[in-house]
Amino acid sequence: MPITIAPVTPGFVAEVGDIDLARPLSAADFDQLRQAFTSYSVLVFANQDLTPEQHLAFSARWGAVEKDRTLDPKATPPRLSGEFADISNLSAEGRIWGETSRQRMYKAGNRLWHTDSSFKRLPSLCSLLYASTVVPIGGHTEFADQRAAYDALPQSMKARLQGLVAEHWIVHSRRRSGFHEFNEDEMKRLPPVPQVVVRTLPESGRKSLFVASHAGRIFGMPDAEGRALIDELIAHVTQRQFVYTHRWRPHELVMWDNRCTMHRGTDYDDLRWVREMRRVTVSDVANTCEQEGVTCAA
Ligand code: OGA
Ligand code: MN
Repeated sequence: MPITIAPVTPGFVAEVGDIDLARPLSAADFDQLRQAFTSYSVLVFANQDLTPEQHLAFSARWGAVEKDRTLDPKATPPRLSGEFADISNLSAEGRIWGETSRQRMYKAGNRLWHTDSSFKRLPSLCSLLYASTVVPIGGHTEFADQRAAYDALPQSMKARLQGLVAEHWIVHSRRRSGFHEFNEDEMKRLPPVPQVVVRTLPESGRKSLFVASHAGRIFGMPDAEGRALIDELIAHVTQRQFVYTHRWRPHELVMWDNRCTMHRGTDYDDLRWVREMRRVTVSDVANTCEQEGVTCAA
């Protein structure tokens, strides 16, 4: 039986059915998924029963899986192994985290609109997030469509943005969410990187904005002006008409295109309910400046 693609919105989100991600996919099925991923930026797979290995195997079909950690494991011991980003509210011992724990303070940054790994020189193609335990109220994930938002910009703004390069740095987003405790090792591993403000997606030729909370400055612009432009673009992209709110069901996998979306987690009572999710992040093929043929200012 062929897989089923059911649009949730005309060009941003689709549900995928008649598919079992625990098994290896045929080339034809994967090809169909690839096409869906080009048309839609967010794909929802309901009722999947995945081991970590199966989650990883499906993710690896999309490209190289990120293995490097953002936080120093000595300062913040991880609960999950190498390839998995922990999107839960659990400590390394598997209990609900402490109110002032480093994990909790750091992950508060996920409440800001962001794109995974845009602060790495080689940014991310896509993320694949699998939910084991969901919370009864709140704890949604919202996605914003940076392609549609680009299309809707006035011509004058499109012209202004052409060729601009922003500085992405994890420190920019964490400062905004109130986390100031990066240690020396983390600062060394996570230097600021350049990314273009407007990128072109090779498969579709569509243009997309590529800014979110990791972006803090724009090269060649006074800091305050760059900051104001970034804030203006984030406000534009996150208007209701570009946003989809995903309400999680258990055993669901959602994958999204980090090249042309922003996302954020919504609030929930994280000291009361367990929310257990794990994410695999797949790398893109090159830095965005290289992809666009723009000379990087840094
Ligand atoms: C992510 C993420 C936010 C959330 O998985 O990358 O930012 O809490 N998630 O759902
Ligand atoms: Mn994220």
